[in-house]
Amino acid sequence: ESTLGAAAAQSGRYFGVAIAANRLSDSTYATIAAREFNSVTAENEMKIDATQPQRGQFNFTAADRVYNWAVQNGKQVRGHTLAWHSQQPGWMQSLSGSALRQAMIDHINGVMSHYKGKIAQWDVVNEAFADGSSGARRDSNLQRTGNDWIEVAFRTARAADPSAKLCYNDYNVEDWTWAKTQAMYAMVRDFKQRGVPIDCVGFQSHFNSGSPYNSNFRTTLQNFAALGVDVAITELDIQGASATTYANVVNDCLAVSRCLGITVWGVRDSDSWRSEHTPLLFNNDGSKKPAYTAVLNAL
Ligand code: XIL
Repeated sequence: ESTLGAAAAQSGRYFGVAIAANRLSDSTYATIAAREFNSVTAENEMKIDATQPQRGQFNFTAADRVYNWAVQNGKQVRGHTLAWHSQQPGWMQSLSGSALRQAMIDHINGVMSHYKGKIAQWDVVNEAFADGSSGARRDSNLQRTGNDWIEVAFRTARAADPSAKLCYNDYNVEDWTWAKTQAMYAMVRDFKQRGVPIDCVGFQSHFNSGSPYNSNFRTTLQNFAALGVDVAITELDIQGASATTYANVVNDCLAVSRCLGITVWGVRDSDSWRSEHTPLLFNNDGSKKPAYTAVLNAL
C-alpha cells in the first residue's frame, strides 16, 4: 500500500492524525492529512473550553470544521475529550461538589448528543491518574466531586450515544512496570467486573527521554485487551522520531488483535505541540521522514 491509512486498513485498523482546524487552510498540511490518514482526532476543538465556553452555551463551530473536513475526506473520527481536569472553561474551573458533577454530566450529554451516531470512539475521561509511584487518582476538581466521577461519566456517555465506543485515555501508562499503568489496569478490571460501560483504553504514547518507549508496551496492550476492552494508541509522538521505535510501536499494535489503530499527534514536526522534539512523521516542508517509511513498511 502507498498510504498509512490504506496500509493499516489491510488488517482492519486505522492510522489517524490529530488535526487543528486553523491549519486546514495550509494546503501542504491538508494535502498530507487527506492523503495519508483514515481517522481524525480534533487536537483541541472538541475539548470542554472549546465546546462549552459559557455554561449552557455550546459552540461547535471549530469542532464541526474538523468533523466536517474528516467526513468529507472519508475519515472516521475519534472524539476527544469529555471529562478532563485540563482545558476547562473558567466557569467550570470555579465549580465544585454537586454543581460540578452536574455540569460534567450536562457537558457529556450536550456534546455527545450533537455528534450522536457519528463518532467511532469517544475519550470519555482523560488523564485521571496521578504521575509517579502512588497509583492514586490525580487530584482535580472532578476527583474532589467523589471517586465515582469516572464511572458516572461512562454511564452518562453510554446513555447519550450507545453507538460510540467509550474509552479511558491517559499518558505514562504504556510501560507495564509503572504504578500508573497498574492503577489504570485495576480500574478497568473493576469496571468490567461491575458492568461499568467501558469499551476501550487509549494509550497516548507521548514518548520522550523522561518517559521512553519500552518493549513491554506490547505486554501492556495484551493485558488490557485480556480484560475485554479494545486498545488504541491515541496521541503518538516520539522524541527524535526514531524509525526503529516507530516500527516497534506499530508492531506492538499489530500483535494485539484488539488494537484498533494508531493516531499520531500532528502532521509535520512544525505542527507538533512539542515541535522542539521533532517527534512526527513529516518534515516541516511536507517531505516524509525515515520514520514514515518505517511505519509504512511495518503496517
Ligand atoms: C495538547 C494539544 O496538542 C495542544 O495544542 C494544547 O495546547 C494542549 O493540549 N494529552 C492530551 C491532549 O490528551 O489533548 C494534549 O493536547 C496533549 C496531552
